[in-house]
Amino acid sequence: MKTIIEPFKIKTVEPIKFTTIQQREQLLRDAGYNPFLIHAEDVLIDLLTDSGTSAMSSKQWAGIMDGDESYAGARSFFRFEKSVKDLTGFKFIIPTHQGRAAEKILFTLLGGKGKYFPNNTHFDTTRANIEYSGAEAFDLLNEVGKSTETIADFKGDIDIPALERFIQEKGRENIPLLMLTITNNAGGGQPVSMKNIKQVRVIADKYKIPFFLDACRFAENAFFIKKREPGYQNKSVKEIAQEMFSYADGCTMSAKKDALVNMGGFLAMNDAELAGKARNILIVTEGFPTYGGLAGRDLEAIAQGLEEIVDEHYLTYRIRSVEYLGEKIRNAGVPFLEPPGGHAIYLDAKRLLPHIPPHEFPGQSIVCELYRLGGIRSVEVGSVMFGKNDQLTGKFIPSAMELVRLAIPRRVYTQSHIDYVAECVIEAFENRRNMPGYRITYEAPMLRHFTAQFEPLHPKRSL
Ligand SMILES: Cc1ncc(COP(=O)(O)O)c(C=O)c1O
Repeated sequence: MKTIIEPFKIKTVEPIKFTTIQQREQLLRDAGYNPFLIHAEDVLIDLLTDSGTSAMSSKQWAGIMDGDESYAGARSFFRFEKSVKDLTGFKFIIPTHQGRAAEKILFTLLGGKGKYFPNNTHFDTTRANIEYSGAEAFDLLNEVGKSTETIADFKGDIDIPALERFIQEKGRENIPLLMLTITNNAGGGQPVSMKNIKQVRVIADKYKIPFFLDACRFAENAFFIKKREPGYQNKSVKEIAQEMFSYADGCTMSAKKDALVNMGGFLAMNDAELAGKARNILIVTEGFPTYGGLAGRDLEAIAQGLEEIVDEHYLTYRIRSVEYLGEKIRNAGVPFLEPPGGHAIYLDAKRLLPHIPPHEFPGQSIVCELYRLGGIRSVEVGSVMFGKNDQLTGKFIPSAMELVRLAIPRRVYTQSHIDYVAECVIEAFENRRNMPGYRITYEAPMLRHFTAQFEPLHPKRSL
């Protein structure tokens, strides 16, 4: 059979509220044209993020009931620890309340002034935790990964010669850790090849620097390796994931992605001394080492989710549903970052709205239009998120890319929801000449995209 179906039956449903275009125009005005500030119940299809938005399985919910809530030594912790060890092979497993809590502990220990951390592309919380420690974060993505149009298998790979030059330039003693983010969320959800992971291992050995994975979407990455990298077709996704982890010394993990839970994360590593120090910080900031920042029931749900995520029927449907959305909008000529990522489609606002310059935020214009037209919530990943004004001259420095991310929550939406999203994106594209640029009327000093307020400029019809 050619049709790929959702590999689950729906047992519980959550109604979604319908609104009219007129109501949404008012809601947008009230939210200062920032969909982050719209109440979720006024959103028809929420593609803001794939993080913590998964639908849990009946077995995960059963685990929630079965969770052992003992303060110390809970049975649920040992189930969680066993499942993470089985998957990653790491010796020390430290539960945290989400990914950034694992990052905070790791960079509190390894960061500080004069330290440098390379990655393919740091996710914003990783970068923020590194910078908060006083250290600096560097993105060394390969050239192909920087183009939105080139189709290539592993656009998440780190640039190996650049990484080696970087180590020689900064000095190995100033680089406490090498990192790879799999898949590369900030670079379009693109996968990293096993070859690239192995090459980073070689460099880590050569310069004696530990190597960690940011493993949030490890299963999606492993599935891409199975489909695209020679030599992996006959291996299971779990075996591929185990091999990926075997080249690393540790990982940070947001379980809100590829552990299919609404809250949770962990830090894992082989270095006993570092793990001891991490547990000391954990006790101060998160909780006792057998629960971290989590309840016993959360640990049960993660353990179960880690088993379900490597199911290849699930991953076939997952990757296909994102690709399906990409195919539909590609056929209508809508420009997006090719090829489709593992968890999201990233519309290319620069090519979609060439009449709106970066300082008028073309991505924000698309985000607002998708909500206005169809009640779809997406997120700008462009100059609202990453653009800055030069501190000395005040000159606007745009983001390298102007993207709009349509992140697909796991096991939540069906094919007809995705058809609806495609229809809405295509209609917005056809109406692009009437879409206005925006001006910021309020912004916070850090991470402004969450709370910024905007107002539309007059529509330009220069296309
Ligand atoms: C690649 C990557 N790393 C880290 C994080 C942070 O995880 P959390 O949101 O659980 O703190 C995210 C979240 O989106 C992510 O995508």
